[in-house]
Amino acid sequence: MVMTRTRLVWLKAMMHLAALAPLVWLALAVQAGALGAEPVERIIHFTGIGALNLLVLTLLVSPLARYAKMGYLMQTRRLLGLYCFSYASLHILAYLALDLLFDVSLLVNELWERPYIVVGAVSYFILLALAITSVNTLRARMGRRWQRLHNLIYLCAILIPLHFYWSLKSGWLEPAIYAVILMLLLGLRKPVRRWLILMPVKGR
Ligand code: HEM
Repeated sequence: MVMTRTRLVWLKAMMHLAALAPLVWLALAVQAGALGAEPVERIIHFTGIGALNLLVLTLLVSPLARYAKMGYLMQTRRLLGLYCFSYASLHILAYLALDLLFDVSLLVNELWERPYIVVGAVSYFILLALAITSVNTLRARMGRRWQRLHNLIYLCAILIPLHFYWSLKSGWLEPAIYAVILMLLLGLRKPVRRWLILMPVKGR
């Protein structure tokens, strides 16, 4: 028991470090002017990929905890989810502040001309709802509705690779790899497996 608690404290400390170190690197690189010819694009890319990687890690926790019989890992899921939300918030802030200079008419134009922004926004509002309701007291108060709301993470796992693919001017491999990984992770999860098992097979 004490062993598990110590392991968990170390694991969480490592996670904080691993999530914050890239942001420190980014801040130093911005200050040193080391982000190349298109620093704004680099920042949006860096934080977007960071959020996506953290989404993958968040969804990896529960299958890993189950199959490796390390139940204590479940206690790291909220931390990873909140870091995913924080990176996504930085990604959007960079876009609004550095790319659009908070120009609302430009934003309206972008939403109209680049539908992938709308897909990103829907995903972000889902992440926002999940982050707000991740507080223990709200979780207890919401009862079964909490799980139903948190199942929306599956929708995010579909929408974010789509947002990524659609944002590219060319190429598809990287978003496709993320989509496959996320689909595999979703396939391992209980509600999806239950749904697949209950689905009637035609022509049987
Ligand atoms: C209101 C919500 C969002 C907005 C306005 C937004 C904006 C953008 C923009 C403008 C790009 C293209 C950058 C470029 O042209 O190089 C982009 C790409 C991307 N976004 Fe978002 N995004 C949003 C939500 C999200 C969320 C929630 C995630 C992940 C959790 C995410 C992950 C990504 C990724 C992985 C890319 C591709 C990175 C690249 O190759 O440049 N975005 N986003």
